[in-house]
Amino acid sequence: MESVQDRIIKLTKELNKHNYNYYVLSDPTISDFQFDKILEELIDLEKEYPQFRQPDSPTLRVGSDLSNNFDTVEHEFPMLSLGNTYSEDELREFHKRVVKELEQEPEYVCELKFDGASISMTYENDFFLRAVTRGDGTKGDDVSENIKTIKSIPLSISGENIPQRFEIRGEIIMPHKVFEKLNLEREKNGEPLFANPRNATSGSIKMINPKEVAKRHLDCYFYYMMGRTKPAATHYETLQLLSKWGFKVSEHTKLCKNIDEVFDYIHYWDDERKKLPYDTDGVVVKVNSFAMQDMMGFTAKIPKWAIAYKFKAEQVVTKVLSIDYQVGRTGAITPVANLEPVFLSGSTVKRASLHNADQMALLDIRIEDMVYVEKGGEIIPKIVGVESHAPGSVPTEFIKKCPACDTELIKYEGEARHFCPNTEGCPPQIKGRIEHFISRKAMNIDSMGEETVALFYDNGLIRDVSDLYTLKKEQIIPLERMAEKSAENIITSIEKSKEVPFDRVLFALGIRFIGETVAKKLAFAFGNMEKLANADKEELMSVDEIGDKIADSLIEYFADIDHIKLISRLMDYGLQFEMQETEKLSETLKGMSVIISGTFNNFSRDEIKAAIEKHGGKNVTSISKNTDLFVVGENIGPSKLEKATKLGIKMVNEDEFMKMIG
Ligand code: IVH
Repeated sequence: MESVQDRIIKLTKELNKHNYNYYVLSDPTISDFQFDKILEELIDLEKEYPQFRQPDSPTLRVGSDLSNNFDTVEHEFPMLSLGNTYSEDELREFHKRVVKELEQEPEYVCELKFDGASISMTYENDFFLRAVTRGDGTKGDDVSENIKTIKSIPLSISGENIPQRFEIRGEIIMPHKVFEKLNLEREKNGEPLFANPRNATSGSIKMINPKEVAKRHLDCYFYYMMGRTKPAATHYETLQLLSKWGFKVSEHTKLCKNIDEVFDYIHYWDDERKKLPYDTDGVVVKVNSFAMQDMMGFTAKIPKWAIAYKFKAEQVVTKVLSIDYQVGRTGAITPVANLEPVFLSGSTVKRASLHNADQMALLDIRIEDMVYVEKGGEIIPKIVGVESHAPGSVPTEFIKKCPACDTELIKYEGEARHFCPNTEGCPPQIKGRIEHFISRKAMNIDSMGEETVALFYDNGLIRDVSDLYTLKKEQIIPLERMAEKSAENIITSIEKSKEVPFDRVLFALGIRFIGETVAKKLAFAFGNMEKLANADKEELMSVDEIGDKIADSLIEYFADIDHIKLISRLMDYGLQFEMQETEKLSETLKGMSVIISGTFNNFSRDEIKAAIEKHGGKNVTSISKNTDLFVVGENIGPSKLEKATKLGIKMVNEDEFMKMIG
């Protein structure tokens, strides 16, 4: 008869094997349904017998723990960067240096340069020990709990010649499909978009809540084993061993007998990489023999035996169909080209920013031109040059008047952009300010959107944000697409916005350069609107991160009598212009259900509860499988502890909790 412990071990092994087949080999041998069935059995058994849970249990992957204090860890071997070049000539120079130093032609290993976030992982006695980010190269953050959620990373390994302890380097990446889905979702929720998969990846591995990281579906490729004793004489053989032990190593890695084969590899992948489901930005060329690597050694920053050949950013040629001029909420005019749709680095591009008049003139972009489009670091692609002008075309003249209100545009000194100065009368500026005001991170009036703002504005119901607070249900119901229920929802959420804390009200006003973080800093520093409005430049600049530009913007804003009148109306309607005691200090516990029990030494139970809320968590009073964290005090009853242990809920004492919330 199989014991429970044996059964748990067996299921763990079986599931890990299937995970490996699916996520590393991309070759599943059972259906998702079958997998889930086995997983369910394991979850149930582990719940009942937590003492038998294996350190490499696949149930660890869902990120049920919370332990993200991100301790700083020193790297045993510094995480260096690579020398890089965009030119084939420089690559030949590199090769000459290598040959000169080694006095022979070496073999090289060519690998793709993955564009993600580098990670250093330590394994001990065949088990995953920890994962640390690059940080400043000498020390990084321990992100183990988050990394465990990446299914292609083995939690245990097996095979021959595995050192007792070793460090391995790799790149965490987010595949295109996952990235696009994530951004789509963020757009729907009114959250800021990630510019590219690399940023999304680094953002993800630094998230506080591992459960959230698990949802990001990250992947990882391993490319280097560190340490003085290596299991083989060459890098290539080591990669093959790593792959046998269970690590995901790119199948596109190639052993090259000479530099010509290196160039062949580069030429092949310059184009072929566009078909890969993830971003790569070059090829890494490494001397294969470890003995030769040792002979060449390192400079202070880079290994002398390796180099990254970087691909030029991907470009496509397409046609400019027309040019629009957008008016932002600050009155800034942005020229935007409408393009013949074209596929570029994983998505279809229809529009590209032209930035400003100078840039447009510099590139001499005309309607119907064929232009080069490139994806830079930003979300919106840019036009980087003209391939050919349209026959008979004439230079584009930048507009002189606002496309929305016909006011003559102006250009401020030192500003590249044109502005429409008609702040109070230009519809897109007014609507833009109201849209910003109601947005999720500002007043969060979520029953309204861009269309409702336009509808109310066009029907003369609102002229500025304060008009929202005088709206009546009866005014809304007769409007197009509105009904009793929607009108009611709108009035309710406007009413509810009166509880929005001061820092977000300040952000909602849309003062130039006052983003979410700056608003928070100012609100905490000055405590209320009156003090902030009366502060002089010196006082403003004494606040952390407030510089010249922001201080000037605030002073200019409060010098305008219309702004003072607006604020005083909003005050009359009951908006928060003063910090409240209970306001959130951080989002460390965001989305988490936290239970407390027992007595505490330094704080009352109420204080601990308040702290949970201030850091974004939710207080709960009974333990269930949905509880994320248990703050354990003294003199606590045994039944709660037992239940929490059974459910595998993360437990912390008073000190640990305080450390967690900083
Ligand atoms: S080798 C000593 N190989 O590129 C080993 N790095 O610019 C040094 N990277 O920090 C790294 N793909 O994050 C290596 N196949 C690959 C790589 C790779 C991506 C990243 C890595 C590194 C950066 C250097």
